Amino acid sequence: MKDSGKISSFLKTGEVYFPPEDIVKNLRINEEVYEEGKRIEEFWGKISEELVWFRKWDRVLEWNPPYSKWFVNGKLNASYNCLDRHLDARGNKTALIWEGEPGDRVTYTYGELYREVCRFSNVLKDLGIKKGDRITLYLPMIPQLPVAMLACARIGAIHSVVFAGFSPRALRERINDAESRILITADGGFRRGRIIPLKENADEALEDAPSIEHVIVVERTGKRWNRYERDLTWDEVIEKQDTECEAEIMDSEDELFILYTSGTTGKPKGVVHRTGGYMVGVHITAKWIFDLRDDDIYWCTADIGWITGHSYIVYGPLSNGATVVMYEGAPDHPARDRFWEIIERYGVTVFYTAPTAIRSFMKWGDEWVKKHDLSILRILGTVGEPINPRAWEWYHRVVGGERCPIMDTWWQTETGMILISPLPFTPLKPGSATKPFPGIEADVLDEDGNPCKPGEGGYLVIKTPWPAMLKTLFRDDERYIKTYWERFPGVYLTGDAAKKDEDGYFWILGRSDDVINVSGHRIGTMEVESALVSHPAVAEAAVVGKAHEIKGQAIVSFIILKEGFDPDENLKELLKAHVRAEIGGIAVPDEIYFVSSLPKTRSGKIMRRILRAIESGKEIGDTSTLEDEKSVKEILGKK
Ligand code: WT7
Repeated sequence: MKDSGKISSFLKTGEVYFPPEDIVKNLRINEEVYEEGKRIEEFWGKISEELVWFRKWDRVLEWNPPYSKWFVNGKLNASYNCLDRHLDARGNKTALIWEGEPGDRVTYTYGELYREVCRFSNVLKDLGIKKGDRITLYLPMIPQLPVAMLACARIGAIHSVVFAGFSPRALRERINDAESRILITADGGFRRGRIIPLKENADEALEDAPSIEHVIVVERTGKRWNRYERDLTWDEVIEKQDTECEAEIMDSEDELFILYTSGTTGKPKGVVHRTGGYMVGVHITAKWIFDLRDDDIYWCTADIGWITGHSYIVYGPLSNGATVVMYEGAPDHPARDRFWEIIERYGVTVFYTAPTAIRSFMKWGDEWVKKHDLSILRILGTVGEPINPRAWEWYHRVVGGERCPIMDTWWQTETGMILISPLPFTPLKPGSATKPFPGIEADVLDEDGNPCKPGEGGYLVIKTPWPAMLKTLFRDDERYIKTYWERFPGVYLTGDAAKKDEDGYFWILGRSDDVINVSGHRIGTMEVESALVSHPAVAEAAVVGKAHEIKGQAIVSFIILKEGFDPDENLKELLKAHVRAEIGGIAVPDEIYFVSSLPKTRSGKIMRRILRAIESGKEIGDTSTLEDEKSVKEILGKK
C-alpha cells in the first residue's frame, strides 16, 4: 500500500478517510490529548510551559462570565517568544521566505528577523511610542508587515492591521476608532500585475484622522508618491537604528492587537486580543494541528490583514520556530500554477489555504497542479468557510496525492485560535471540521438553549472559555456582551449554524446572523446596505447572500431608488463603484435589482429571510408577519 515508496494512502471506508498508520505513529500526540483537555486549567497550564515567561502566572484562569483572565499575573512578550527564544538553537535557521508577486525574493533567518524587528522597535520608540499606544498597519504582504507587528509587540504597542484591500474610508474609520498615533503603509503593493495605490488611499484616509502623528512609508514599487510633512520612509528611519531592543515585560492580560471584523451592524467591531492566552492558543494549535517540526516549510496563503495571517503566518508558526513562506500576490499571476510553483520551489511540506481558492484551482483544471512535483507536501489545511465535499476530495487527491490529511479548521477572528479541527490522526469526513480541539467544549443548541439531537441544525456555541478568546471589543464592552453572551447566558455565541452527527462530528452550515461569507471574508449585510444608501440615488437597500460556485456566497442587493433616478445598467455600475469606494472590492454586490418595495415586517424590519429564500429558490415559508405581499411578487417577477 506504499505510495511512491514514501507514505501510504488514506483508507476510505464509506464516507470516512482513515489516515495511514505511518502518519499516525510518527505524531507526537495521540487520542489522550482529548482526555487531558477535559481538565481545562491543568491542561492549559501545562501547555503554557511551551512558551517563555519572564514570570510564571499565579493562576491559569479567572472566569467571571463573560470576562476571562488567562495566566493571571504571568509576564511574557510575544515578540520574544517568536524571535529571541530561538536565537540560540535556530539563529541561522530560515524564519521567513518571502516572494513578491513580480518574482522578487528575500529570506530572513531568525537572527536577521530578530535584528530587523529590534531596529524597527527602536524607530517606534524614537517616535515616542509607548506601551498601550495603537498603531495602524496598512501594508501589502511584504516582510515589513510581520516585522512591524513584532516590533509593536516588542515594545507593547497595540497593532491594528487593516487589510490592504480596504478603501480609504474603511481605513479612516478603523484608524479613528483605535485612535492610532502612527500609520505604517507602502507606496503600493502588487496584485495581479497591478499596483494597489496604498499611499494615495492612506492620504485620503488621513484627510480626517487627527490622531495620526506620523506615516511611515515602505517604498515597494519604485513609483513616485506625494510626500507630506508627516511622512517618513521606512528605509530612512530604520537605517541607523541599533539591532538590539529589549522586549518589554508585558502582563499576560496586556493587549497584543486589535483586529476589526464585520458584524451585524454597519460599524466594524474591534476585536481585542491579549498577550498570554492568545500566544498559548496559537502556539499549540499550530504545533498540533499542522504537526509543525523543525524541518517543515510551512505556507499559509491568507493575507496577514485577516486573523488567519495573524495567528497562522506570524504568531503561531514563529513561536514554534518554523520556516514560514509568505507570498504577496494572486494565485493566477503570471499563470495559474503560481502556488504549485512556489510549493515545488521551496519544498513546502504544510500548506494551508481556503475553500474558495481550492474551488478556483479545481475549475482551472488538474493540469496546472500536475505540472509540478508536490510529493513533499505532508499536511493540508483549509479555513474560512465550509468546504464542499467535492472540493475536499479534489484537494485530497490532486494536491495531496491521497496521502495528506486535510485539516478543516473552524474558527473566527474572535476565537483567535482554531477551535474545531481534526488532528493529523483523526479519521476525516469531507466537509466536516470534525471535533473541538482538546480543551474546547463546543455544542449545537436549539432556540431554547437545549442541545440539538444529532443531525439537527442549531446555533454553534462554545461552552467553556479558551485561552485565545477575545478580551472584549475595543472600547465597547456593551456590544461585546450583546453580540456574544446574551443569547445564551454564559455561553459564547459564534454566529454560525451547525449540526453534530452521530459520531460527534461538527458540520458548519454557515452564518446564522446577517453576515455573508464571500470568499472566506466576512461581510455584514448592514455594512453593504449603509454603503448603498449613502449614495444619492438610493432610498433603501437590502442585501443578502446567495450560493456562488467559487466564492461560496455572492452579494445580492435589492434597491429602491429615489424619485428621478433611472434604474439602468449605468446606475448599477455607479453603485458598485460607490461600494468599492466606501468599503473595498470585497463588498461590491454581484447582483443589483431595482425594486419598488422591500419585504418588511409590520414594524418595518427588512425580512432578509424572504429575500434569501427567493435567491436560493427555496420555499418562502411563513409570511404572516409580512406587511405587504406586493414586494415579494415583484421580486419573484424579476427572476
Ligand atoms: C467565520 C469567521 C477564522 C479564519 C477565517 C475567517 C467561517 C471559518 C470555517 C470552516 C466553515 C468556517 C464561519 C466563521 N468559517 N472557518 N473551517 N468551516 N466555516 O475569519 O473573518 O472571523 O470569519 O468564517 O462562518 O464564523 P472570520
